[in-house]
Amino acid sequence: MLPFAYGDLVLLLDGKGRRLLVKLEEHQVSQVPSGHRLLHAEVVGKLPGSRVRPLGGRPLLALRPSLEDYVMAMERPTQIIYPKDMGHLLIYGDVRPGITILEAGVGSGATALLFLRALGPEGKLISVERRPEFLEAARKNVTAFWGGLPPHWDLRLGDIYEGVEACPPLDLMFLDLPEPHRALEVAEQSLKPGGVLLIWVPTIYQVERVVAAVRGRLFCPPEIKEFWERDWVVGPHSLRPDHRMVGHTGFLLRLRRLGGDGYEPLDPPL
Ligand SMILES: C[S@@+](CC[C@H](N)C(=O)[O-])C[C@H]1O[C@@H](n2cnc3c(N)ncnc32)[C@H](O)[C@@H]1O
Repeated sequence: MLPFAYGDLVLLLDGKGRRLLVKLEEHQVSQVPSGHRLLHAEVVGKLPGSRVRPLGGRPLLALRPSLEDYVMAMERPTQIIYPKDMGHLLIYGDVRPGITILEAGVGSGATALLFLRALGPEGKLISVERRPEFLEAARKNVTAFWGGLPPHWDLRLGDIYEGVEACPPLDLMFLDLPEPHRALEVAEQSLKPGGVLLIWVPTIYQVERVVAAVRGRLFCPPEIKEFWERDWVVGPHSLRPDHRMVGHTGFLLRLRRLGGDGYEPLDPPL
């Protein structure tokens, strides 16, 4: 593991669990959550996991931000898929190195970062976003985490409901937008037989519309999932579940693209 250098991102944690994400720059100073000032030069040259001391303040822990740390600290002009749910996209989408994924919309770029890392440089991610300001926000967030524009990322301005041009056969399509039932035709046309369509929606009305719209199309009926996560509190005299937990965030739908030219129901039907 290399020591911190100028240009690196560093996550600073204090004893109260407060966190700050900073890009290390020469001659720069950051105000940490306690209000004290930290010289960036104090961090440079130290190994991740070291303590660093702001001027007149208590020590902080300096770490390299994980993808989760980064996503929760970056600017988020749109709703994102939260870390609680992100890992499920990888396993239910069977995301692996070398595959081709299309996602729409891109929003703040959280899921773009997740997919770009998991499919690796031999893979390809096409990200379609309708609003230029969100496309730019995602480009900025991804570039800052990646240290440049990932070569296997094809970021496009467009409306997925109107189709996608020059799109190679897809292993996975991921839809995180308000009316996914309107993108079923383009998903059917773009996915490889056996490919996976994942859809993320916050309300059951949207789920119902997908379930209704998928009938007669080249997809297996959707599987519908929800994910719950509960943190635990570790203190000197207690070890217990947190009083609060994140309850509902959304529903994940998984549909598999059937092969063949026509829809033949299984016997017995799914
Ligand atoms: C909830 S955000 C996506 C968040 C993203 N998955 C993340 O984790 O950062 C939804 C995005 O879909 C975009 N969008 C909505 N309808 C669209 C369409 N028809 N085609 C492309 N993008 C669309 C919106 O502009 C918005 O940026």
